[in-house]
Amino acid sequence: MKILVIGSGAREHAISARLAVESGVSEVVCAPGNAGIGAVARLVPVDPGDPKALLDLARREAVDLTVVGPELPLSRGVVDRFREAGLAIVGPTQAAAALESSKAFAKAFMARHGVPTAGFALCTSAQQALDEIASGRLGLPLVVKADGLAAGKGVIIAETRAEAEGAVRDVMETRRFGDAGNTVVLEEFMTGQEASYFVLCDGAHAMPLGTAQDHKRIFDDDKGPNTGGMGAFSPSPLITADMDARVLRDIVRPVLAGMAAEGHPFNGFLYVGLMLTPAGPKVVEFNARFGDPEAQVVLPRLDESFAALLAAAAAGTLPERAARFSSEPRVGVVLASKGYPESAESGVPISGLDEAARIPGAEVFHAATAEASDGGIATAGGRVLTVVARGATFAEAIATAYRAVHAIRFDGMQYRTDIGRRAL
Ligand code: AMP
Ligand code: GLY
Repeated sequence: MKILVIGSGAREHAISARLAVESGVSEVVCAPGNAGIGAVARLVPVDPGDPKALLDLARREAVDLTVVGPELPLSRGVVDRFREAGLAIVGPTQAAAALESSKAFAKAFMARHGVPTAGFALCTSAQQALDEIASGRLGLPLVVKADGLAAGKGVIIAETRAEAEGAVRDVMETRRFGDAGNTVVLEEFMTGQEASYFVLCDGAHAMPLGTAQDHKRIFDDDKGPNTGGMGAFSPSPLITADMDARVLRDIVRPVLAGMAAEGHPFNGFLYVGLMLTPAGPKVVEFNARFGDPEAQVVLPRLDESFAALLAAAAAGTLPERAARFSSEPRVGVVLASKGYPESAESGVPISGLDEAARIPGAEVFHAATAEASDGGIATAGGRVLTVVARGATFAEAIATAYRAVHAIRFDGMQYRTDIGRRAL
């Protein structure tokens, strides 16, 4: 089987690296990939935001199966194009990807199908939002969210009414997130611990694909601004067997059935962001793709053929069971550039990658890296690498991950020193 992987981050490196060593996979092609993915896949410089160019590529290369990593190609309808052309692909159609690309759609959908989530109001004008805030119906703190994609930055937790009003003006009048803020979602604030639950879907069947917890803030102890994710661990000790069954019954199955009933069967990776509240698990958000850095800690634990699962998902023949995993935990630490998340330095030489990869139990996935003119590897953006380690216990996995982190150096390198501590 020849497989095309779309994307260029550490998630796509983890997907490509895994597929490349599986029997039954003859070749992995990655568009556009990065310097690290180049070691496990053949890179082709095609824009992941251009569905037509991707379809041309898949045809030219006669790939048997395509898997989409990031959200952008999904929201541009790459899956619709491939399906129309009769090509096998894993991922949701543009309409189904609205579970991620429109928070307003996701909330209204959950309300229609009785999926537990925070109480909310959808507002299409600043006045409507200000009236809703004045009513006090949703209480304080109040969560203010831009409807559209805002790179994880479109969520404001307002402690006071004045802050909530300011956030609404910022999103709807100053248009801080552009068109993503045409509609605003106001939400009740939920309390509890957060965990991520992954499902591989084929439109009708849902296969649980592991759990994880991520670390969204830039600094230790969850301080500082939100990022795309500074580290993760898997599995989540919060998802006990009982909780797992509850999430499947109360959230995953109603979502799949609801999407199918509305004419948009969900195919691909469903990422369920959960808040484990005193009243039970509730949905914080959906993503229509695998998480990053979560994929880097979940996939290495998979104890069966990933390619076979992907092929079954594309064909609509996924078995009704959970994917099989090794019980060994994984911990992944993200190494980011100076200035991240506001800005990012590029072109800074990285050393110690080979040394880190030689540490038993450690592996390094590249995100924003590029080959330097001297043949070495340099930084090429905000999140540069994910260093992942396994261990018999979380403590061991954490120790090995940081031993590998300490082998790597680049100017301005920042990382959290507390990844995985919450699992102990
Ligand atoms: P989102 O982009 O919707 O996942 O939100 C980003 C983060 O904001 C989440 O991971 C939560 O930590 C927090 N958050 C979002 N919505 C709520 C809510 N209704 N109650 C409490 N925290 C929330
Ligand atoms: N780590 C969060 C995400 O992939 O959206």
